[in-house]
Amino acid sequence: MLNNDCLTQRVNAYQNTLECNESLYSEFTQLVAKVPFLENHRNHIEANDLGFGDRAFHYMWLLLLQYIADKFPHPKFLEIGVYKGQVISLWALIASQLNIDISITAISPLRGNPRPKSPLVALSIALFNTKFRKNLRFGNFYDNEDYLSIISNLFESFDLDFTKIRMIKGYSNDELVIQQVKDEKFSVIYIDGDHTFEGVTQDINNYALKVEKGGFLVMDDASYYLPSKSFWKGHETVSRACKVIPSLGFTNVLNVGHNRIYQRLEYTEHDS
Ligand SMILES: C[S@@+](CC[C@H](N)C(=O)[O-])C[C@H]1O[C@@H](n2cnc3c(N)ncnc32)[C@H](O)[C@@H]1O
Repeated sequence: MLNNDCLTQRVNAYQNTLECNESLYSEFTQLVAKVPFLENHRNHIEANDLGFGDRAFHYMWLLLLQYIADKFPHPKFLEIGVYKGQVISLWALIASQLNIDISITAISPLRGNPRPKSPLVALSIALFNTKFRKNLRFGNFYDNEDYLSIISNLFESFDLDFTKIRMIKGYSNDELVIQQVKDEKFSVIYIDGDHTFEGVTQDINNYALKVEKGGFLVMDDASYYLPSKSFWKGHETVSRACKVIPSLGFTNVLNVGHNRIYQRLEYTEHDS
């Protein structure tokens, strides 16, 4: 156990109150500095503009990987929405540091969805196109870049083997993508792709029950309705879409900033 800390202790102590949410977030942010490989990784991401999210999440992933490695002999992780590879490279790094035999799958378009440069053009498209309006509102635009090379270089910077990652190129709601993970289970699924209500709802419907019993579904940008003033709480749409998750047999065990962690119960009515 690194730092004498573990997920179980954190879950047992957790209360969804303003004080607890804010102090956990600030404590996790500071604890990153106590684990040099986490700090180096996050510094590299920030210095090179390679990802979103908050520093505190690095420590959250450390605790989650430690816990999962104890419970599942060969944990399988899935990320939806990879961008430049911050999270998959972090998982690979923690696994290599803690000697965890992990397998990582990632679903992402690996291409941009650029916002028109001219505000006038953007405004005229927004007037007639609802999907475009939602993309504008929820930050669903990404520049055209060579994402595959950027991710592969990030792995190389930390001496990690990118060829071990199973990259599925495409959108999570595309039938061809869904078919590729049909009948598969994952110990942990992290959803951080489309941020519209409809997109997140589809991801929850298509992927939540692929989490193994006792495993975790982690939702990014999902804390809009939580008490807190000291961190960005994510999108209302994502947070509203997440309200269905407990009814699928999950318990919300911990929240770190705008990342919400749901654990799949060992037995639910969905089993029968
Ligand atoms: C907010 S970024 C992800 C950031 C990344 N998880 C990180 O922590 O740095 C969202 C990513 O999801 C991708 N994306 C958008 N809709 C998606 C979908 N339906 N399926 C998979 N990826 C999607 C975008 O292209 C972008 O790469």
